[in-house]
Amino acid sequence: MKMSKLAQLIDDDEQEQNQFATDVLAGLSSVEKHLSCKYFYDDTGSELFRDITQHEDYYLTRTEYAILDDASERLPGVLDEKEIDIVELGAGDGHKSQLIVDGFLRAGLAVNFYPIDISDKAMHMLGETIRDQPNLSVHGLIGDYFDGLRFVRERSARRQLVLFLGSNIGNFDRSQGQTFLRRLCSCLNTGDHVLIGFDLKKDITELIAAYTDSGNLTRDFNLNLLARINRELGGNFDLDGFQHYATYNPVLGAMESYLLATREQRVFISALQREFFFAAFEPIHTEYSFKFSPSDIEQLCDLSGFTPVENFADEKERFFSSLWRVA
Ligand code: AVI
Repeated sequence: MKMSKLAQLIDDDEQEQNQFATDVLAGLSSVEKHLSCKYFYDDTGSELFRDITQHEDYYLTRTEYAILDDASERLPGVLDEKEIDIVELGAGDGHKSQLIVDGFLRAGLAVNFYPIDISDKAMHMLGETIRDQPNLSVHGLIGDYFDGLRFVRERSARRQLVLFLGSNIGNFDRSQGQTFLRRLCSCLNTGDHVLIGFDLKKDITELIAAYTDSGNLTRDFNLNLLARINRELGGNFDLDGFQHYATYNPVLGAMESYLLATREQRVFISALQREFFFAAFEPIHTEYSFKFSPSDIEQLCDLSGFTPVENFADEKERFFSSLWRVA
């Protein structure tokens, strides 16, 4: 694919780096240590995540892919437009986007596709997947989702379909998710649509397997957070002194990921000029992956200003791709 405007840079690297340092300082100084999962996705992390999505234990991606394969035939009829802007929040590797874009092109629509991602690595992976085609223009945007949405709105008054796939919504806690979706709704016009991927609550064995895959990709993905602190903030984490641990919290309805210090240790981070103490088996919380019931989804739709249109699902109801319209 050739992007007609490759990577409009709308983020600020220095500001982002300062924010990373500030968040690491706050997270590792807390009584219950934590690091934000948004920092997983540097270049190495984005590649590892792509590998996770191709692993057989991580059922989410192939399930959603099969759902979208079916849905892509029906979406153009439901939306009923001649030309459409498809905005994707979090570019992924582009395979799912390609399915949806192709569905609209096959139905004879002109498509303007705007993938938005914070990681330029992710954008390039997407760039390698999306094919050049007549009636398709692609504008990759690197930066914050809401800056990207504003960028598109300032340049186009067409109907929008916003894709937020892959159960990325599950990495917000319930109230953050609602705030995010309300904000998304406020950036759109009446009649615009969103298609959101929700991983459903299911047998815990299947969930645990997905987050402790047999190829140890999720372990490496989690540990890369410490490696990133070493690379970018001058930390001296010994990665062999930490263990990946993922568990399901049935009260929250979420998978939780941790890095556990396997022995007592001290870590110095030179950009922060601070040393951090870890007791043996002390956890660092790194990620929530919330799971949803159909009624959780209905409620979220209602509370964030949308009207439900259709839930596209697989046979076993492992995953929903929910289509909502701005009310
Ligand atoms: C991106 N996100 C939806 C993934 C998830 O399932 O929460 C990230 C991930 N974490 C571990 N494996 C995959």
